[in-house]
Amino acid sequence: MSTQPISTETQGQTLNLLVRQVRFEGRGINSYELVDPDGAQLPPFSAGAHIDIHLAGGVVRQYSISNAPRERHRYVIAVLRDERGRGGSKALHEQLRVQDIVRVSRPRNNFHLVDGARRVLLIAGGIGVTPLKAMAHELDDAGIDYEMHYCAKDARSAAFADEFESMRASGRLHFHFDGGDPSAGLDIRDLLNAPGEGQHVYYCGPGGFMNACAAAAQHWPPGTVHFEHFKAPERSPGEHAANDANDSFIVRIARTGQEIEVTKDESIAEALAGAGVAMETSCCAGLCGTCKVRYLEGEVEHNDCIMNDEEKSEYLTACVSRATSKLLVLDL
Ligand code: FES
Repeated sequence: MSTQPISTETQGQTLNLLVRQVRFEGRGINSYELVDPDGAQLPPFSAGAHIDIHLAGGVVRQYSISNAPRERHRYVIAVLRDERGRGGSKALHEQLRVQDIVRVSRPRNNFHLVDGARRVLLIAGGIGVTPLKAMAHELDDAGIDYEMHYCAKDARSAAFADEFESMRASGRLHFHFDGGDPSAGLDIRDLLNAPGEGQHVYYCGPGGFMNACAAAAQHWPPGTVHFEHFKAPERSPGEHAANDANDSFIVRIARTGQEIEVTKDESIAEALAGAGVAMETSCCAGLCGTCKVRYLEGEVEHNDCIMNDEEKSEYLTACVSRATSKLLVLDL
């Protein structure tokens, strides 16, 4: 492996990377290969990591890195153009061209492969394949037994067909095309019916797919089921919040003693920013972990999609968490 240093251009909080290649990967899906403009190595990442892409007009979106973590010279993301989304994927498809320089964050990871698995099952729904593809590469390199299932509408909607061919030929990867009817696709309940000794499952995909996987994996041992949402799950009215119907609450900054009121119409991050307390945010939807902060006192209603119970006993995400106590003390 090269020992090339990381470029000084990439030493700060964000990196300015060159769009080296844009590839058609499937219906509505482009992949973008991002490299250092001078050919230097990029900051390392592990499978499951994502980067923020900064687009014109202050639009910031998170995309999982899909290539092998051993590749230190590039990050490859794949983006499905979502006509009904918030506009980020459309803007990215329209704005980003080969030879452009784009500002991206350093990689962050809320969706790690955990150590010690004997066998790993990867289940991808649509564009949710991107972090799982990186995991397949990492597992291949580590010599860990795995099997990947990739659910898509049809072959034309499946990304990375060329790269996946050897995985498919070796029997590691199984495609499941449902023609748009999930009941005609992979039987997730059957697949997850009997967890093997030391087996872990990772899944990522759209809302209905996530619900199906969660229901099918309910009986798996604690700590063996891992997932990442790429959109915040929709909540039914009233599902959110013990606290938001009536109350504001107070956040205290532990180091200074400053107390800040968070009203029911704003997030903790917004209230802190309004009071001049710097708090970095990115997705503002409880998906990326940028605004994760330790809390020292108080009861929290979490509302994020990334932390497990152990992390929730220590951290909250300032963009979506609320307090169910009157006071929350943050380790800031
Ligand atoms: S900004 Fe992404 S989790 Fe809060």
